[in-house]
Amino acid sequence: MYARNAISCSGDDDERVAEAQWGVTQQQPCRSNHQRRARERDERERRERREREESERERLQRRARERDEREREKTRERGEEREKRGEERRERTMEGGTGAGTRLGMGMGMAMAAPGGGSSTVAVQATNDDATASKLSCVTKGYIYDDFVHLFVRRSVKRAPIINRGYYARWATMRMLLLQFLESDLPNASGPSPKKQILSLGAGFDTTFFQLVAEGRAPHKFVELDFLEVTKKKAMMIATKEVLLSKLGPGKPEIDAGKEGIVSERYSLLPCDLRNLKDLDDAFAKAELDAKLPTLIFAECVLIYMDPAASRKVVKWCADKFESAAFVIYEQIHPDDAFGQQMLKNLESRGCPLLGLHDTPTLESKERRFTDLGWQRAVAMDMDAIYHQQLDPVDRRRIERLEIFDEFEEWNIMQAHYCVAYGVKDDTGVFYKFGFSQKKAENVQKPITPVIM
Ligand SMILES: C[S@@+](CC[C@H](N)C(=O)[O-])C[C@H]1O[C@@H](n2cnc3c(N)ncnc32)[C@H](O)[C@@H]1O
Repeated sequence: MYARNAISCSGDDDERVAEAQWGVTQQQPCRSNHQRRARERDERERRERREREESERERLQRRARERDEREREKTRERGEEREKRGEERRERTMEGGTGAGTRLGMGMGMAMAAPGGGSSTVAVQATNDDATASKLSCVTKGYIYDDFVHLFVRRSVKRAPIINRGYYARWATMRMLLLQFLESDLPNASGPSPKKQILSLGAGFDTTFFQLVAEGRAPHKFVELDFLEVTKKKAMMIATKEVLLSKLGPGKPEIDAGKEGIVSERYSLLPCDLRNLKDLDDAFAKAELDAKLPTLIFAECVLIYMDPAASRKVVKWCADKFESAAFVIYEQIHPDDAFGQQMLKNLESRGCPLLGLHDTPTLESKERRFTDLGWQRAVAMDMDAIYHQQLDPVDRRRIERLEIFDEFEEWNIMQAHYCVAYGVKDDTGVFYKFGFSQKKAENVQKPITPVIM
């Protein structure tokens, strides 16, 4: 019986058959077996369910974690992208579209905002570091050539294509006018062309002098002025680099002990706060500039950082001082549209507000500043027009192939916010051909595009 029971209890169906056949008492052992098995089965099922639930929970938690991680990654990327776009927009809306006040300046701890949001001399000086870094970026990419700028940059940076292109336009325009001046002659001249001088106001670490010497085109005299802090650094760099030092000749250069400046026969680098006309007079005397010689004066993104009264005094001082001169400036226009406002805000936040922009906000007002202050004629043209109508089209096409570029709308807007303007005072006639090509200049359209930024 027990054997039968044992056998019959081997399976659930058999158990049920056995229960029916043998009654309650006889069924006792089978029943306890059955209960134990049922308990075990329940236990096993519960365990399996728990395991299934746990693994499902784990799976869901893992997926949630992965999703969160992906979201965080996307947010990070979006943030970085926004920051990058912000940086680039800041670069575009800053000095010359060429990067003044960018990462480099801040990275060097130089472009500090002035307390109270005013203008900080340190921040204004730091615009020079950014301009120099932008030049090197352009050289590295093949936009412009400059054999010496790398000697003045501590850490090279890669600028966005739009910044490189903007800097190219600025460099090519200034170079075009510079060469025109160096090659100019008196009308109907038969003898040698007159000696010439170049005076660079707020020169920063500009290397034009060294480049001209290397090309065999250096003028009789080349004088650079800037704040003492800037000239001191530049003098030190020149004094310690044979390749630069050797260009100062022919005579022995006078480099003062504190290396605040340099005076040599054809090159002088002198400290001068342009807001102080006495500094200008002193520099004029020390560099032995000659009021009678044809002189090209340039100020790239310099007067705009000064208050209008001070910059007007500089423009007048130059007109009074030289008999025959051209004064070329590169600076911003149109502060009142969206791009212009952003440009003002960015530079203000860096401690170098464009103090002069509201005084000369248009091309006409830049021209008027010259003609009101002793210059006989003046021309101003925005960089968009200059780029298309004045620069060499072959070279333009060359640089347009250097980098992938698709920011055409922003490019046009940016260029419409910068200009080159010049005043000419010509008592000798040497500047009779100087300036933008008239035919092209007449065709200039001056776009003032409303900007959404
Ligand atoms: C944007 S940087 C341009 C440097 C150079 N002209 C160029 O294009 O590479 C402006 C320069 O103007 C100089 N600057 C501004 N205000 C000045 C002032 N009141 N006196 C002398 N230099 C000044 C700054 O120190 C700085 O070197």
